[in-house]
Amino acid sequence: MAGVCVLAYSGGLDTSVAIPWLKETLGCDVVAMACDVGQGVDPEALSARAKAAGAAGVVIVDAREEFARDFALPALRANALYMGKYPLVSALSRPLIVRHLVRVARERGATSIAHGCTGKGNDQVRFEVGAAALAPDLAVVAPVRDAARTREEAIADAEARGIPLGVTRSSPYSIDENLWGRTIECGALEDPWTSPPADAFAWTADPATAPEGPDVLTIAFDGGIPVSLDGAALPLADLIQAVARRAGAQGFGRVDMMEDRLIGIKSRELYEVPGALALIAAHRDLEDLTLERSLAAFKRGIEPIYAELAYNGLWFSPLRLALDAFIAESQRPVTGEVRLRLHRGALTVEGRRSPCALYARDLATYEAGDLFDHRAAAGFVKLWGLPLRVWAERQGGAD
Ligand code: ARG
Repeated sequence: MAGVCVLAYSGGLDTSVAIPWLKETLGCDVVAMACDVGQGVDPEALSARAKAAGAAGVVIVDAREEFARDFALPALRANALYMGKYPLVSALSRPLIVRHLVRVARERGATSIAHGCTGKGNDQVRFEVGAAALAPDLAVVAPVRDAARTREEAIADAEARGIPLGVTRSSPYSIDENLWGRTIECGALEDPWTSPPADAFAWTADPATAPEGPDVLTIAFDGGIPVSLDGAALPLADLIQAVARRAGAQGFGRVDMMEDRLIGIKSRELYEVPGALALIAAHRDLEDLTLERSLAAFKRGIEPIYAELAYNGLWFSPLRLALDAFIAESQRPVTGEVRLRLHRGALTVEGRRSPCALYARDLATYEAGDLFDHRAAAGFVKLWGLPLRVWAERQGGAD
């Protein structure tokens, strides 16, 4: 056999039958590589299945903390929400997987890498554009897109080759999971009018049957990084998962949306993102307390651009890097605590405090003895309105 191809391997049906397809089509050895980004990987089962499918090697990377630090955290600091709603769960894990595909390809002297995406989604773009940015010399192969088999054909192929699929949970949905959230597509959801079936959800309680009493979470940030939950310092990945569990138990974090995919299709998407949305809500509130007004307004302007870059597969672009440098500078005062109240699907920010707060009670108070210069306000209002006053005089002041 000539050459090595490193395949992004999930352990599912599609990437399992991709192994023999790659061997036969490219005439190469296949190394299956999987990253644990918080979805829960069973290393023994995964590597047994890859080997049964004919993989020459299996690499499993524990990437939870790396995913939290290098992908979820920058997205949090950017308050990144695609279309104002979707916290980019899958869009953030693809560049991490590409990073490791390229690393393993270099270590094994591979000439190509492969992914199991179809031709209809965003993920193919994220893998291929990500690979082009990190390793323009590597070929990228897309067996699922190229073989274009139905699910039944893929199952028949797996059975004919003796690839064990018994442990595959038979789900009517297409699921992707990581620390930042859970994505749900297909099945009954393809009719945008149909209410999401209860069995689509795994991380969030039904708000109608969530506990009667609220849960209150205090999250501390240091320079825009969440560092503790209710006073207990936690590694970032653990903190994200702990917030997700607490908020999800209260029925918070479901998103049901019509989404514009990069390739031009609208699709109906369901997300469970209790941790991501709770942390973004807390982080935004702390920014409102600590960021100087014009900096805050400018940052809000670039946040949707940041989200689009990540969504559209441009994570490794110079623009994203430059925006990150700006955001990193902006986060210096984002230190303090935010108290969240979660109850029956609703999140409310109940309190915030910071040593860097720009809130000055002696300026804001309506009580006697404040330090605000009321006479200066009169002059300010006069000059602020001066251009309109002059204009109105010329126009005759008509409404
Ligand atoms: N629509 C979302 C996105 O593009 C979720 C994709 C989930 N991917 C998957 N292979 N199931 O980010």
